[in-house]
Amino acid sequence: MGTGCASIHLAITPKTPHEFTFPKNFLWGAATSAYQVEGNNANNDWWEWEQTHSSGARSGMAADHWNRFEEDFTLAKELGHNAHRFSIEWSRIEPQEGQWDIVALEHYASVIRSLRSKGMEPIVTLHHFTIPLWLAHQGGWTSQKAPALFARYVEKVAEYLGSDVFFWMTLNEPGVYAYKGYLVGEWPPGEKSPEQGIKVIDNLLLGHVLAYKKIKAMYVRKGWKEPMVGISQSVLIFRACSDYSLRDRVAARFRHWMFNHLFVQALIRGHAYCVGVFNIHLPQTKTLDFIGLNYYTRDFVQHSGFGFPGILGQACTATVTQDQHTGKDNSLSWEIYPKGLDTFLKDFSRYKLPLLVSENGIATNDDAQRTDFIREHLKAIAHAMEEGAPVIGYLYWSLLDNYEWSQGFVPRFGLIEVNYTTQKRTIRESARRYEEIIRSGKLRF
Ligand code: FCB
Repeated sequence: MGTGCASIHLAITPKTPHEFTFPKNFLWGAATSAYQVEGNNANNDWWEWEQTHSSGARSGMAADHWNRFEEDFTLAKELGHNAHRFSIEWSRIEPQEGQWDIVALEHYASVIRSLRSKGMEPIVTLHHFTIPLWLAHQGGWTSQKAPALFARYVEKVAEYLGSDVFFWMTLNEPGVYAYKGYLVGEWPPGEKSPEQGIKVIDNLLLGHVLAYKKIKAMYVRKGWKEPMVGISQSVLIFRACSDYSLRDRVAARFRHWMFNHLFVQALIRGHAYCVGVFNIHLPQTKTLDFIGLNYYTRDFVQHSGFGFPGILGQACTATVTQDQHTGKDNSLSWEIYPKGLDTFLKDFSRYKLPLLVSENGIATNDDAQRTDFIREHLKAIAHAMEEGAPVIGYLYWSLLDNYEWSQGFVPRFGLIEVNYTTQKRTIRESARRYEEIIRSGKLRF
């Protein structure tokens, strides 16, 4: 104005808030696993491992969920949940090879009845990291007998519990299981052997296929409505430590393919084809009805050689620059990166199967952080669904504070706080905020 200077107008378009409505039949709830919450699972490999290897923490009574499931599900119902994922402890069902414990089967039947009576859909995992001691002592999943033994146990469980179950998940995070137990040796049996790791993946693939068939055949035989059978796949965003390093980028791509896609692709395409190292051939028929995705974080990866496992690279999280990292971590130093969930839901849409977020959660002592975490991840889901991702539900990890494997009881993941001295449950504020979203079925962003 009279200064002779041209004025510059910055066009800032205000973001119009919009509302996303989740489908009416969307599954809302939380997840747990037997070993982490039940307590006293003394007949499996983790228990044995804890006596000699853990950093001091032993699972012991855990959250005593074996005795308190009724109370826990009453709280979940109060929080608006309409679904709950839990796992069956194989070592309780088959304490000795070929011997079935009917009392344990009956226990899980009451767990399922309790959920159903409260209007919650049971989502049943058949293998969540632990195996019976008798199997561990025969080589666990490296044994050629393991797939058939697993399938026999699954058949027994399906026969006993199947009339009331629609969603089955055969395996939880098979890749993580093989990696932690057989490649880096951080979990039982503490092996560091790529050959054994590959053998385990082969056997898990076969185990899933056999179990899938047993479940399907049982339902046909009994005349029950055909169930959905899937797996829980861990998914992690992998980013190169340095975008300028081709080698780092290759390591990140390779990890992405190996850890996020290989197992599912092997099942869907009917054969495993990891650069010639896997040599089993799986049937071409369908063996996956839906995919569970467990999403937590993003990792930064750098090149560490061209052999195996060097090609997978190694973590460099501590050295990444601030512009690469969001700067927000959970109490286990896992980066909080909600966008990754959106990425994966769109990425996995290519398989044209329903997707269930079967785990997503945060370990934190700051509950306000949990509220934000859930909201941001639900936004990511809404975003992906708007772009067509076939998401059928969201299960927060975890309903309760629990035993976090080698990290013990320190990480607090629960919507419900557990006092491990008294076993008293206290609903956290974040669970109430999650409940509001569930009850409205809407998210504004
Ligand atoms: C997943 C596991 C689950 C829990 C969370 C934090 O990888 O499936 O048991 O430990 O991580």
